[in-house]
Amino acid sequence: MRIWIVGKEGLLARALARACAQRGLDFFATGQSEADVTRPETLEPFAEEATHIINCAAYTNVDLAETEISRCYAINAEGPAHLAKVAHGKLLHVSTDYVFDGKQERPYVETDLCRPLSVYGKSKRDGEAKCLEAAPDACIVRTSWLFGVGGKNFLSSLLQLMQTQEEIKVAGDQLGSPTYVEDCAGTLLDLIDRRGIFHVTSGGALTRAQIAHEMRAAALEAGLPLKCQRITAASFGAAAERPNYSVLALDKVEQTLGKPCRQWKEAVREYVKHAL
Ligand SMILES: NC(=O)c1ccc[n+]([C@@H]2O[C@H](COP(=O)([O-])OP(=O)(O)OC[C@H]3O[C@@H](n4cnc5c(N)ncnc54)[C@H](OP(=O)(O)O)[C@@H]3O)[C@@H](O)[C@H]2O)c1
Repeated sequence: MRIWIVGKEGLLARALARACAQRGLDFFATGQSEADVTRPETLEPFAEEATHIINCAAYTNVDLAETEISRCYAINAEGPAHLAKVAHGKLLHVSTDYVFDGKQERPYVETDLCRPLSVYGKSKRDGEAKCLEAAPDACIVRTSWLFGVGGKNFLSSLLQLMQTQEEIKVAGDQLGSPTYVEDCAGTLLDLIDRRGIFHVTSGGALTRAQIAHEMRAAALEAGLPLKCQRITAASFGAAAERPNYSVLALDKVEQTLGKPCRQWKEAVREYVKHAL
């Protein structure tokens, strides 16, 4: 087995490289300057070297995607198709909770209809479809609200703000599952030889304001000096519409792997210690 991690500078890709190293797996990773998912000719030489490809490359600026539409589609929709076509072995492609519209009131299962609200969500839905069309054996993992060390994310921004500001304002109207990137990376490796769609997040569903409260408690517990005294729920006008409810059901992955996904409350405490 030789794993190729595509998009090596990203938050998830870095965690995957750590997880591969911890498990003693043979892997290599490439960045955009070596293997650009929009340029198939740059992918072929690497694909020949790999038995498994994990695609972590993506256009992830959800708001900017509303105006950079063709770039977003080239990376998120065409990119996975190019990888699926050059793959010599298995392809695992990473997708998102933003393929759903958030109008449901129960966790989304893998077979629920995708009705994305944003350009980013639509490009990721198209990426899933094109990937499966070219490689029906591929595995697609939808995750959500990634956090961890080694990249800017909602929780890392919160932690930074809490150290410098007395009051912080966070969106109060979105419910989802923050996902610890180290746990997600481990589960991707567990799923590497599977096919079909899987939802993978940390356990638990919270609003962003609840996340901020829990995060503050975890940081204080860990002895981090915080300036933040108040967390206020607010609504922000962002360029892209986000689903108000984006909780993904974990039954399929938990049954397949025979173990539960770790609760985010436990994971956030580990993250805070590493982020100190
Ligand atoms: N972050 C989240 O909260 C979240 C939630 C749900 C799903 N996801 C999905 O999880 C996956 C990983 O996300 P992430 O947060 O780790 O993303 P990230 O930190 O933004 O990293 C994405 C990486 O893709 C690379 N990339 C962009 N265009 C490329 C191209 N044309 N060819 C090759 N590489 C390219 C970027 O390189 P440069 O730095 O050079 O641009 C970057 O290193 C993505 O599929 C994302 O849609 C993320």
